[in-house]
Amino acid sequence: MIYLDHHATTPADPEVVAAMIPWMTTDFGNPHSHTHSAGRRAAQACDEALELLAARTGGRADSLVVTSGATESNNLAILGVMLHPRQRRRHIITASTEHPSVLEPITQLEDQGFRVTVLPVRQQGEPGCGIVDPEVLRAAIDDQTALVSIMWANNEIGTLQPIRELAEIAHTVGALFHTDATQALGRIPIDITAAEIDLLSGSAHKFYGPKGVGFLHVGIGTRRVRLRPLLQGGGQQRGLRGGTLNSAGLIGMAEAIRLCTDELPRQSQRIASLRDDLWRRLQIAFPGIELNGPDLRPEWRLAENLNVSPLDVEGETLMAAAPELAISSGAACSSVDPKPSHVLTAIGLSESRARRSLRFGLGRGTTSREIETAVTMLAAARRHLMRTTRPSSHAP
Ligand SMILES: Cc1ncc(COP(=O)(O)O)c(C=O)c1O
Repeated sequence: MIYLDHHATTPADPEVVAAMIPWMTTDFGNPHSHTHSAGRRAAQACDEALELLAARTGGRADSLVVTSGATESNNLAILGVMLHPRQRRRHIITASTEHPSVLEPITQLEDQGFRVTVLPVRQQGEPGCGIVDPEVLRAAIDDQTALVSIMWANNEIGTLQPIRELAEIAHTVGALFHTDATQALGRIPIDITAAEIDLLSGSAHKFYGPKGVGFLHVGIGTRRVRLRPLLQGGGQQRGLRGGTLNSAGLIGMAEAIRLCTDELPRQSQRIASLRDDLWRRLQIAFPGIELNGPDLRPEWRLAENLNVSPLDVEGETLMAAAPELAISSGAACSSVDPKPSHVLTAIGLSESRARRSLRFGLGRGTTSREIETAVTMLAAARRHLMRTTRPSSHAP
């Protein structure tokens, strides 16, 4: 199996797993049990993990809320801010290319009578495709805007947003700024304080940590963030997230961010050159293949990401004919009614081009040999399909 689907998930690093094991076995104490040393030891280790996570993201340990992943963090940020009993503002802004864990709670708010603005992004063919234009945000925001939620890096086309500038615009009217940094963490340098981000979501399994744990960083400096908790219980985590802290998960997540940030400068250059090589090889193997999303420039696109549409075959069909290759496509085929990706249609791609799309997500274990083999597998799969089936009805 050649695994090029690192936007979906990454393997937990062996060092991460090793760091977690004691906190599930020998040192299994509940970090909220202060009455004995087993609990106090776990609490101390969790405090250290929070310090490490904060140091590597430019945040503060006492601003971190540990969650079950970015889905929960995004829900907590959005519903938590908008549904707080002292929230007077009724307007929320997001972008059309956000993850469903941002869009769905916002739709729920709209159903409850909140005013929602979904901003368009730069279209395919424009420089920086997928970017929310700061001027577009400036025109949409007003003194009723409570929250602006724009992701740092897109999970399908890798677009990097001008986060600092967008946050600054939110602050001009006293709105809070939330970013879903799930795909950015561990892949680009993140400094929550320097970028003035009021709320930032992350998920450990996207940066070589365990599944089922993530975080929300809440508040920077003096700007006040009031959150209504989603989960209530024993008052853990300053009352913002009830439930026993996932101590082993948190410790693994902190170790994972440490490894990623240590490796980052070396890995991002190496991965960018592998990704560029993948694109070159695909252009030779699939004449006329189209690049979806922004140009392959580091200021616009994650080094790990490539999204392309061959001219004459659907993504799902090609993937099925290359079962040894783990990539993904822009159509959610698991649903009864497979819809083309909302991200690809939001950047102006036709349904046909979106259905032909293939998404590659490279990772720190990816080798040049794998890139070469992946393209060979895809080219063989296409030849096989051309021999055995009629041309795709979606061919332009
Ligand atoms: C941009 C983005 N946000 C949020 C999520 C949700 O993360 P999780 O499934 O770990 O909760 C994902 C996962 O694919 C993602 O790519």
